[in-house]
Amino acid sequence: MTTSMTSVPPAFRVPLPDPVVELLGKHIVELPDPELDLFDGHVRAEVADRYRAVLTGTPDAWAVVRHLRDLVDDDQGEGFAVLTAVPLLDHYGFDDGLKAMTVVLSWLATPLKADDGVSLWKPLSVGPEQVTGARPLHVDMIHTTRPPDYTAFLCTRPDPRGGGLSLVSPVRRAVFRLSDDERRLLTDHVYGLRDAGAMTGVGPVLDAFPVLDDSLPPTDGFVRFDPQMLKDADRGDPHTSAARALERELIAAQRRFRLGLGDLLVTNQHLCAHGHGALGGFQSDIPEDQRRRMRQIHLRTHEPAS
Ligand SMILES: [Fe+2]
Repeated sequence: MTTSMTSVPPAFRVPLPDPVVELLGKHIVELPDPELDLFDGHVRAEVADRYRAVLTGTPDAWAVVRHLRDLVDDDQGEGFAVLTAVPLLDHYGFDDGLKAMTVVLSWLATPLKADDGVSLWKPLSVGPEQVTGARPLHVDMIHTTRPPDYTAFLCTRPDPRGGGLSLVSPVRRAVFRLSDDERRLLTDHVYGLRDAGAMTGVGPVLDAFPVLDDSLPPTDGFVRFDPQMLKDADRGDPHTSAARALERELIAAQRRFRLGLGDLLVTNQHLCAHGHGALGGFQSDIPEDQRRRMRQIHLRTHEPAS
């Protein structure tokens, strides 16, 4: 496999121009840490306001936001972008670099710690028990009333064995390619996911949910798909077949690419499924501090009408 085959497609890359890197550096020390509202898991409003105020410092910052939005929010697009955030790590180190990325993401939406008991930027560990650790295409937290609107992945160390490629696939397009019968089956409230941990800011857990919610426009609704919901499903049930058909369409249109150090993959959960491939070769003989390392964060674009 050549590098070019697995590098991030240039059309989806968003560079961080020098004036934005400098602007963030100028403010990073005085800006508050991303303190959370414990009730809803969002970064506190006062903090988010301070972060957003930085945006006015240079027109280049607005241009970055527009560029990101054009890629992740276009319902005719693929719903993802890769921000080249490595200059923030290079210039400001890991902790301040991560804070600067939180600031940039808050220009798009409000950072949200949806998983209880982990940090805002959840480390995705590669433990010995997850030696190959593939995670097929899915949308996060589909069994909740309000799954996060965006999710982002920061790569701080690629797999030294060249595996763990990121996967993305446009979920709405996959739905369009299904038959009318399959789409109709997917609107039934018969799908379920077990054993979710405690969560914040995503509304009540749904015992049974439809994959497709036709009552909402695509930019508000979700395609509630995760292959884990089919683990114990009855293979003879046409609902299972319809979900498998959706899965096949997702896989047929997936993109695979390798994130490099400081690459921040942002996906719009309304439009794009994500996952990653198996890590390369034998991971058990790679020292812990050399294994693939990723961090994940969720974001909320707006408050639900209540
Ligand atoms: Fe996920």
